[in-house]
Amino acid sequence: MQITLTVNGEDRALDVDPRVTLLDALREHLNLTGSKKGCDHGQCGACTILLNGRRINACLSLAVMHDGDEITTIEGLGQPGNLSPLQAAFVQNDGYQCGYCTPGQIMSAKGMLAELDMGWPSNVSADLTDIPDLTRTEIRERMSGNLCRCSAYPGICQAIEDAAT
Ligand code: FES
Repeated sequence: MQITLTVNGEDRALDVDPRVTLLDALREHLNLTGSKKGCDHGQCGACTILLNGRRINACLSLAVMHDGDEITTIEGLGQPGNLSPLQAAFVQNDGYQCGYCTPGQIMSAKGMLAELDMGWPSNVSADLTDIPDLTRTEIRERMSGNLCRCSAYPGICQAIEDAAT
């Protein structure tokens, strides 16, 4: 099927089998391999991307469901030498060990901070200026869909805290 995705601000036309996941379309059809395939079952979060601004597991969705949608992958945040603030915070705080989960962690953190900015869900202040009050426990809960097998969670959480302030 013919679909068009807007990926990192660029319209990309694709001809994909209806069974192809969004993750495979990004990795294998568009050669955007930053989004990782860990479990391919929605359990690890390595494939997290932003779909119309909201974080999703790209392995759980079919590409053909997203004709016309806007997608942001890790490649859309920053580049070597010009990292986004969130990427730079992960570097500064050693928010990784092997690095395999890192793109998903960063995309999930970006989505989480956007959710806070939108006041969603409502148990935490909608005001970005209040994000310094975000507790480590809340960060762990909100990031619970992203696993790190190296257990680099302290650095990951510190990076998110730093990026939020
Ligand atoms: Fe998608 Fe693990 S690869 S959640």
